[in-house]
Amino acid sequence: MSIADAPVRAVISPSASLDRAARRVLAANWRRGATVPAGGLYPHQWSWDSAFIALGLRHFSPVRAQRELESLFGAQWTDGRVPHIVFDPLVPADAYFPGPAFWRSADVAGAPGVPTSGIVQPPAHALAAWETFRAAPAVARSRRFLERLYPRLVAWHDFLLTARDLRGRGLVSVVHPWESGMDNSPAWDVPLSRVVPLPPAELARRDLAHAAAAERPTDTDYGRYIRLARDYRDSGYRETPGFAVEDPLCNALLAAGEHALASIAAEIGLDPARHLARAQQVTDALMAELWDVTAGTFFAYDVVGDAVLRSYSIAGLLPVVVPDLPVATDLVKTALGDRFRLADACPVPSYDLTAADHEAGRYWRGPGWINTSWLFWYGLRLHGETGLADDLRDRLLARVRTAGFREYLDPLTGAGFGTDDFSWTAALTLDLIRTGPRR
Ligand code: SER
Repeated sequence: MSIADAPVRAVISPSASLDRAARRVLAANWRRGATVPAGGLYPHQWSWDSAFIALGLRHFSPVRAQRELESLFGAQWTDGRVPHIVFDPLVPADAYFPGPAFWRSADVAGAPGVPTSGIVQPPAHALAAWETFRAAPAVARSRRFLERLYPRLVAWHDFLLTARDLRGRGLVSVVHPWESGMDNSPAWDVPLSRVVPLPPAELARRDLAHAAAAERPTDTDYGRYIRLARDYRDSGYRETPGFAVEDPLCNALLAAGEHALASIAAEIGLDPARHLARAQQVTDALMAELWDVTAGTFFAYDVVGDAVLRSYSIAGLLPVVVPDLPVATDLVKTALGDRFRLADACPVPSYDLTAADHEAGRYWRGPGWINTSWLFWYGLRLHGETGLADDLRDRLLARVRTAGFREYLDPLTGAGFGTDDFSWTAALTLDLIRTGPRR
């Protein structure tokens, strides 16, 4: 057959169709200024979701990526906290639990006009803002994107490093498992066991209408989450409740975020020095307080129980996102070992594959997630592990191509769990495609 005889239909590369499908998910989940993580399960704006979503949006709609972050920071409280949920007033009150009537942000001085929750999520935003700028500098400059966002990002990090440095060691504590982003991680089992759960009758769970109970946290854990949130709310979101842990991922994102703030400051004509100094302080504190050289990982610290939480979670490997981290090679070695099997398990397991309580399909107790895998991939590239990064990228894209834009996946079989058409899975898939391999 000559070239002239070849079929006219253009050959669509597998990446091109996946790219288009990812953009379709993000378009469907866009709501007047921000993206919902998933229309059914999470029908409002979530904080660290928006950071990951902006990383995908920036490739095809830089203005939408900027608006995603601007709308989140538009709901920032005057004390600097960025709430983990910004509620959409047009969504029915009972669509998500706990909703605006539970959090009662309108009763708190310093909360914004729009209803929000009162807890926070990991600070991935400065990194996302800088990467969003880098994707389209001219558009960002014309909208004064960084000039407007910078003071808000600084206030956010200030809140974390003052109100949340509970031990005075230069590390941020999360005061609710939801604040870690990894709600039911086995790493939180010991500190959470001290919290008396509310009875199931007091929980109006909505999540089970959208995902199987076996793939979500148990009622007992939910009862503890709601009690902690209620106690924090009843203190006016001031007194820390009965749970406080220093999480390696939150602190690593803060250190990486201070490096990003240094770049942002330089771009808008300000002195980056204070951010570089802060990045170094947080990195030093991570090394001094949470690094375990024998285990080759960072462990979280239970501030209330005054004890190290020796649980091998993906959060312990994610300080690999910190530039100049002195132990990046050790983290890669641990990732390649039996607990995480970086060379063949994909996405990177959220929790130790060899642990007796590993559950491959239950929320943060074992499945692999695209956002934490993306962070590990980003860290591999940052520290020059190009071959491993490219290989992980290829396998992540293959998994999504097979399973679709699921919320989390079995790291060994690739089976999908949780909701479908999940925004950060789509956004970060798009980023992996568009960024391409280094090889
Ligand atoms: N991740 C929690 C949920 O499942 C709270 O943000 O709703």
